[in-house]
Amino acid sequence: MNPAANLILVGPMGAGKSCIGRRLAEHYDLRLVDADREIEQRTGASVATIFECEGEAGFRTRERAALGELLAADGLLLATGGGAVLDAENRRLLRARGFVVHLQVSPAQQLARLARDTTRPLLQRDDREVVLDEMAASRAPLYAEVADLQFDTDGLVAADAAARLIARL
Ligand code: S3P
Repeated sequence: MNPAANLILVGPMGAGKSCIGRRLAEHYDLRLVDADREIEQRTGASVATIFECEGEAGFRTRERAALGELLAADGLLLATGGGAVLDAENRRLLRARGFVVHLQVSPAQQLARLARDTTRPLLQRDDREVVLDEMAASRAPLYAEVADLQFDTDGLVAADAAARLIARL
C-alpha cells in the first residue's frame, strides 16, 4: 500500500466493508469511519428514513456532502456506502484522497449475507436477486475506475478476509 492519506473501502452491499473495515482500522491504527453511520448521525435519521422522506436523490446529496467533509481529513479507514461511486465527484475524491480497495462479492453471496437484513432501502422488494444483478452489472466499471486493489470476499468470513487483504496491502 502506498502511503496515501486514507484507506478507503468501496464495494456492493454485503461485501463486508464495515466488518473488514473494523479489522483493518485496528491493524493499521486508522480512525474507523462508516459513511452511512456518519450520515445517520449528521441527519438524526436512519438511512431507511432518509430514503423514505427524501428519496434516493436526497440521500445521495447527503452522501456527497459527508464524503467531501470526511475526506478532507487524513488517517481514516473509510467504509463507503455501496452507491458512493455513482457520483463522478465522489469517484474523483475517493481516488485523490486515499488508497481504494474494492471489496468484491457475488450477487449470490450478497443474497446469503443480507438474507435477514431489513435496513437496506434498495432491497425492500421481492426481486432482490434481480436488483443485485443489475447493480453488479452497472456499478462494476465504477468500482474498477476508483480501485487501487480489488479483493474478492466470496466465501470468506470477515476475519479471514481482513487477514488475507492485509497480506496483499
Ligand atoms: C447503498 C448501499 C448502502 C447505503 C444505501 C445505498 C447502495 O450501504 O449507502 O442503502 O446504493 O448500494 P452499504 O453498502 O454499506 O450497505
